[in-house]
Amino acid sequence: MSYDNIRFESADAIGTLTVDRPKALNALNPDTLREMLRCLRDVRRENDVRALVVTGGGGKAFVAGADIAAMSKMRVVEAKEMARLGQRVTSAIEDLAIPVIAAVNGFALGGGMELVMACDLVVASDKARFGQPEINLGIIPGFGGTQRLARRIGLHRAREMIYGGEMIDADTARQWGLVNRVVKAEELIGEARKLAAALAAKPPIAIAQAKLAIQHGLDVDLENGLRLEAEAFAVTFSTEDRSEGMAAFLGKRPAKFSGR
Ligand code: CAA
Repeated sequence: MSYDNIRFESADAIGTLTVDRPKALNALNPDTLREMLRCLRDVRRENDVRALVVTGGGGKAFVAGADIAAMSKMRVVEAKEMARLGQRVTSAIEDLAIPVIAAVNGFALGGGMELVMACDLVVASDKARFGQPEINLGIIPGFGGTQRLARRIGLHRAREMIYGGEMIDADTARQWGLVNRVVKAEELIGEARKLAAALAAKPPIAIAQAKLAIQHGLDVDLENGLRLEAEAFAVTFSTEDRSEGMAAFLGKRPAKFSGR
């Protein structure tokens, strides 16, 4: 599959989606968002990819936001379509059955930060910067920031970031729970792929069920979340990997998971 604004490579069960418009700091215009949706749909169909890394091309940015040049010409109806398109991309990441790791190599601003928040785990370079600077353009986040950020870091910090539009550094993002690990810039992709490989070796149906229970449990009350967990837990009992995992433990040997 060929793309103009992104790159996709896959090796050893790890896919890497790179947003690749470095001249515009990888800003997300409608064509880029559509290519990402197409790529995510293909990853979903592709059984060989067991973990996905999302990163930005060029040294400077992960994604510096939605494309301001494109948005400057939009009217109300087009703005709504743009927001819905970006939201479809973040939802498509959350709906993938495999773990998605953001490798944040630089600026993750606006739509870029919203992309980060849709990923399962986040590894950031010590040079990464995070922010929701939309307020400085006279607009607000449109790819999920007003909804996901408060769920991640709490209401008061989310309000500070969205009303104030200031950036935070990678260490602050880690302390606030937006980032799992901060590593040196030159180690970023290696660390993200190492993490992806470790997760790709786990039983994929169990990973998918865990992802589903965590994701959908976030937005329901505890009782319904617990019921969802029991359903997802039960699904794993239909798998060969569950039989193998338990037999291996009881036989005091390493498990060999088949993915079935
Ligand atoms: N959209 C379009 N182009 C962008 C861009 C964006 N979000 N961010 C950067 N660029 C472009 C710049 O216009 C510039 O292009 P030219 O070389 O053609 O002039 C190029 O990328 C390099 O950028 P700068 O010269 O500005 O680089 P810098 O090092 O001085 O600053 C920066 C870097 C602080 C990230 C700065 O580029 C910046 O503030 N970018 C905008 C960040 C932003 O506001 N993001 C939110 C967008 S709105 C949004 O995302 C809404 C939503 O939720 C859906």
